[in-house]
Amino acid sequence: MQRSEDLHELVRQLRAELAWARRTGLEDAPMEANDVPVSAPSSSSAVKIAARGLPEIQTELGDCRRCKLAEGRTNIVFGVGNPNAEIMFIGEGPGADEDQMGEPFVGKSGQLLTKIIEGMGLQRSDVYIANVVKCRPPNNRDPEPDEVEACEPFLRAQIESIRPKVIVTLGKWASQTILQDSTPITRMRGNWSRYGDTPVMPTYHPAYLLHNPAEKRPVWEDMKAVLAFLGRSVPQRGQS
Ligand code: URA
Repeated sequence: MQRSEDLHELVRQLRAELAWARRTGLEDAPMEANDVPVSAPSSSSAVKIAARGLPEIQTELGDCRRCKLAEGRTNIVFGVGNPNAEIMFIGEGPGADEDQMGEPFVGKSGQLLTKIIEGMGLQRSDVYIANVVKCRPPNNRDPEPDEVEACEPFLRAQIESIRPKVIVTLGKWASQTILQDSTPITRMRGNWSRYGDTPVMPTYHPAYLLHNPAEKRPVWEDMKAVLAFLGRSVPQRGQS
């Protein structure tokens, strides 16, 4: 039994590696008929953390000093929500409010994300919310590749632990990083992709919506697609 699970995992990883190689142009690999783009969990990182509970992952993370973001942070922002969530939202990294509170998406954009979640007929406590990096980048700059690499095993472990049915990536940076795809977010959003085996719906970042309220409409369309995929009813009024 264990052997067949190992084999299944090996095949899954190989398929992901192949898809990644294909997308990055490293290899001219043939596409399968019904192949959905698959984002490979990073193969560059030597660190592998076996699937386990969120508390164990947090313990493993500890008072993390694996990258330079540790120097400027107040709190590690691990993630929050239902450990068995069907939907996992992933943003870029903590801002000032999140750094202070130790919780993702609690500032202005977080309040809008909460409204979006409530518009879906859910509560924050129904879903899981995390970021690609768990420590605040100075001056809210984009996280750098070494920082992403240091944090990635922990995000991956969280995903493997929660096993969400859908991941929603928030904004250009998180979507492009998680999906390893440089397609502009305007074209990426609303289109299903995959992270390993998990379906991913990229959408706009709530911070972007604060400045571009007209773009709430497409985000609502994306959330309706997520609800439909999950076989959940779509609330009548989705606009927040
Ligand atoms: N923006 C993000 O991407 N993540 C947060 O937690 C807050 C703001």
